[in-house]
Amino acid sequence: MSLLPPGPRGNLPGGAFLSFPRNPEAFRRVAREYGDLSSFRVGAQRFFLINHPDLVREVFITKAGSFVKGWGPVAGNSVVGRGVLTSEGALHQQQRRITLPALHRGRLEEYANIVVRHGRAFVNRWPADVELDVLDEARKVTLHILGEALFGTDISPMAARLTDAVAVVFGRFSGRMSAFARFIRRSRVRSAAAAAAAAHALRDIAQELIAARKSAPGNDLISMLLDARDENGQPLNDEQIVDEVVTFLMAGHETVAVAFAFSWALLARDERAQSRLHDELDSVLHDRDPGWNDLKALPYTQGMIAEALRLYPPQWMLGRRAIERVEVGGHEVPRGAVVLLCLPALHRDPRWFEAPETFRPDRWSAGIDKAAAPFTYVPFGVGTRRCIGEGFAWMEATLLLSMLAGRFRARPMTGEILTESLILLRPRKTVLRFQSAASARSIG
Ligand code: HEM
Repeated sequence: MSLLPPGPRGNLPGGAFLSFPRNPEAFRRVAREYGDLSSFRVGAQRFFLINHPDLVREVFITKAGSFVKGWGPVAGNSVVGRGVLTSEGALHQQQRRITLPALHRGRLEEYANIVVRHGRAFVNRWPADVELDVLDEARKVTLHILGEALFGTDISPMAARLTDAVAVVFGRFSGRMSAFARFIRRSRVRSAAAAAAAAHALRDIAQELIAARKSAPGNDLISMLLDARDENGQPLNDEQIVDEVVTFLMAGHETVAVAFAFSWALLARDERAQSRLHDELDSVLHDRDPGWNDLKALPYTQGMIAEALRLYPPQWMLGRRAIERVEVGGHEVPRGAVVLLCLPALHRDPRWFEAPETFRPDRWSAGIDKAAAPFTYVPFGVGTRRCIGEGFAWMEATLLLSMLAGRFRARPMTGEILTESLILLRPRKTVLRFQSAASARSIG
């Protein structure tokens, strides 16, 4: 094994470093400057940055056993406890086994009906010409969908409490959860109180959801968790169930809402794409609501989501901590070192995507799996820890986009899409102006 790969040497200076972990662009620069495998140090912590599909395969598939997920954002997380997002080893396998059936392909058709019902209520509320915070609206609708689909509950009475708590966790609290938080004491102290209150609120809400299912069991995720038995035939304890419910509350809606907001930010800047989207929706749906059976007939709509996830992957940084000495790309990664994969760097690499900075929904017309070379497009992660909600997310985002675009057109915008990256990458400006598609047509 050879010596360390190249990379920025020494400790990154404090001021520069505080913005560094929040900034995908900084990681893209490192990848451009130092190549497919680079390394740098922050305090005593050694990081490696990979930026090649072969290395993605090596770390996340072939050598996955030498790594755990426990690094910055997920290590010792008091919000989601030890749910499936953060657990490791046998516990993680058990949790995937228990939770996967709730998101199995076979159930997606049933969930699609829920998405369409909430989607319709969501678009029906708006007047013909309206200014909307598209991220906020998407958060509300995806939360209601999640509540009904996975928890069998009308989440309205607790929606405001929930969105506030989730916002704190994804916002202020992200300082503590940032990849490098351990090394940035200031942000840890500043957000501790707000984070603790938000974590409490989320756990209280989870308890309420669980109590509701205990008194009226159904076919939802919570009922499955209540019925589950471990390998010794024992039920899960209350804390495990709360951890899992909070995990899905956190992982299951904000990501989709952010993808939705980026799709609109892109659409508003591309009149041609917006027209093509409307043509597809008009020819397939003829003014009716979409449904599960229409998804295959909406490749351009799905390509919009795919392209938003390529250019602006909400979960933009994946990381793994080595639990033993392991070779990656011919270099030794010592035990305890963290390997990072910056998705915007990989997804915008001209070696894998032609005109990588250009928004081109039709690059996905051959189908998502066929259009990108293996391990070059990984918005939902890779390997045994790949996103459980991927099928749900594609279905939900595509149906919601087609419902909103079927009725409304975003007024054109210009200028670069500015982003901020807390735990999730998201657009900085989320207020857009919409006008009804019918009036846009009559004006046009
Ligand atoms: C556009 C939407 C979404 C994106 C971009 C996304 C992205 C991801 C990514 C990248 C991972 C892997 C993280 C890693 O390996 O470090 C992940 C894991 C996960 N996601 Fe998603 N996700 C989305 C929607 C959802 C939804 C709708 C749900 C649930 C309903 C969900 C539940 C989970 C869970 C439970 C995990 C942990 C899996 C494990 O560690 O075994 N996600 N997601």
